[in-house]
Amino acid sequence: MSILVLNGPNLSRLGKREPEVYGDRTLDDINRELAESFPAVSFEFFQSEDEGLLLEKLFHIEDKGGYNGVVLNAGALTHYSVALRDAISAITLPVVEVHLSNIYAREEFRHKSVISAVCVGVISGFGANSYHLGVRALMDIVRNNQL
Ligand code: DQA
Repeated sequence: MSILVLNGPNLSRLGKREPEVYGDRTLDDINRELAESFPAVSFEFFQSEDEGLLLEKLFHIEDKGGYNGVVLNAGALTHYSVALRDAISAITLPVVEVHLSNIYAREEFRHKSVISAVCVGVISGFGANSYHLGVRALMDIVRNNQL
């Protein structure tokens, strides 16, 4: 099983950035813990501040083949990027939307996700565990051939 864990803008700052909201783990910590927790999964980890690079990454893994799905924390792009939404629609791989914080318990502008409707599901509010739950959801989908 091969999974891309894709992180968008500002997630490179985890550990330093608003720890009361996002916790004290760095993105490297989170990625390492994922690899340790799911030894049977082959992970690729990619983060960018650049929307276009995230889109290109999605197209690249779709075209390359061999991947089973994507766990995506799109950061603020979640709330406004129609380009990201269209890119998710344009690929056939299942994408699970994850957030560290509970976006529905925060500012109103975060309550709207423009990508949720084209993702297979959303996990929000469980801190770093959101990524683990996202991987588990993806593994179940792939195993049960639900898509
Ligand atoms: C986030 C929530 C977004 O609203 C925010 O812009 C982020 C992080 C989260 O993981 O909780 O950058 O996606």
